[in-house]
Amino acid sequence: MSKITVWFIRFAIIYFLIAILLGLHMSVAGPVYPWMPIHAHFNLLGWMSMMIYGVGYHILPRFSGKPLFSDGLAMAQLWLANIGLVGMAAGWWVRSASGSNTVLLIFSLVESLSIVFFAVNMLKTIKAAPAPAPAPPAKK
Ligand code: HEM
Ligand code: HEM
Repeated sequence: MSKITVWFIRFAIIYFLIAILLGLHMSVAGPVYPWMPIHAHFNLLGWMSMMIYGVGYHILPRFSGKPLFSDGLAMAQLWLANIGLVGMAAGWWVRSASGSNTVLLIFSLVESLSIVFFAVNMLKTIKAAPAPAPAPPAKK
């Protein structure tokens, strides 16, 4: 597995564990702000999306029979996805403490950019992938 895949899977599991702790906290304390959106996004952008990124970087180039379009873009995405998500969590916390949306907005844009990097890298990787070889004729 590539370094990118290993790191995305490691981070996915870390966010999953933190999200579950927050979920358990809310089971007791109720769906209190800011834990609800942090729990939701650590699960959805952390655990689920990062697991999909990791597996996608491993599998899609193999499916398409072509190398990944850009390792550099993938590494940038790894950083941006993590900075964005942790920053969004901080942003929800700031919003709940002071009412300001600025931090949340800035890191939401960082997270969105990471998603665009993934989309571009994958679309370029699967573009014009060779068609699979025809199946051999069945034996009579
Ligand atoms: C041990 C595992 C989990 C626990 C104990 C837990 C607990 C909770 C609790 C207590 C809430 C607040 C709901 C309410 O009272 O209205 C909540 C919300 C939420 N959870 Fe979890 N959760 C768990 C796993 C997950 C997973 C795996 C996902 C997604 C993959 C997830 C996604 C969400 C989302 C999206 C919300 C917000 C729902 C809404 O907007 O109404 N949770 N969770
Ligand atoms: C760049 C990506 C994303 C950004 C910037 C973003 C931003 C937000 C924001 C600002 C909210 C309102 C939360 C609040 O203030 O209470 C929200 C809610 C929500 N988002 Fe996202 N989101 C993103 C990606 C996703 C994805 C990929 C999913 C699902 C796979 C998702 C599922 C949800 C759900 C279920 C809620 C309701 C959670 C709650 O009740 O607290 N989001 N999102």
